[in-house]
Amino acid sequence: MEILTGNFSETQQLGQSLGALLQPGDVLLVSGDLGAGKTTFIQGLAAGMGVQAQVTSPTFTIIHEYQGSSFPLYHIDAYRLERADEINELGLEEYFYGDGVTAVEWAEKIKEWLPPDYLYVKLEKMSSHPEQRRIQIGERGSGSYAGLIEELKQICRS
Ligand SMILES: Nc1ncnc2c1ncn2[C@@H]1O[C@H](COP(=O)(O)OP(=O)(O)O)[C@@H](O)[C@H]1O
Ligand SMILES: [Mg+2]
Repeated sequence: MEILTGNFSETQQLGQSLGALLQPGDVLLVSGDLGAGKTTFIQGLAAGMGVQAQVTSPTFTIIHEYQGSSFPLYHIDAYRLERADEINELGLEEYFYGDGVTAVEWAEKIKEWLPPDYLYVKLEKMSSHPEQRRIQIGERGSGSYAGLIEELKQICRS
């Protein structure tokens, strides 16, 4: 699905709608250039999961953990990861196949470690207007997120 948002809070709202639909074990890849709105979107996602804490860009910390109302959100920023041994040390499977939702920025750095099924969100700045973003949401893998995406579409239509 594709959506255009006209400002910061519309992007947060979309993240929040998605966050409210997520279940433990769900994995979401968030991509886009610097300033596209990845952190903004994940802040909304966290709010939709009932996270009270302020979500920031992880910068030097690779993995941030937030407590949602029913299960945790793991926010991974893989930007600084380079070597296989340091990636192996993180024990990513415990997050991907664990009891919470995992949102990943710079997922291309950990390509070989990703689970077969995941959701993705791609954010793009638009040249037409400085506050407009094109946001694509979809899935890869066996279709396990098809129902969720359908629900999100309906919420966005209403
Ligand atoms: N439609 C929009 N969606 C998201 N952010 C927007 C939008 N319009 C303007 N912005 C601004 O763009 C910036 C996005 O920053 P951020 O979410 O930190 O990006 P990233 O994490 O991708 O680098 C914020 O300053 C935000 O206010
Ligand atoms: Mg960011």
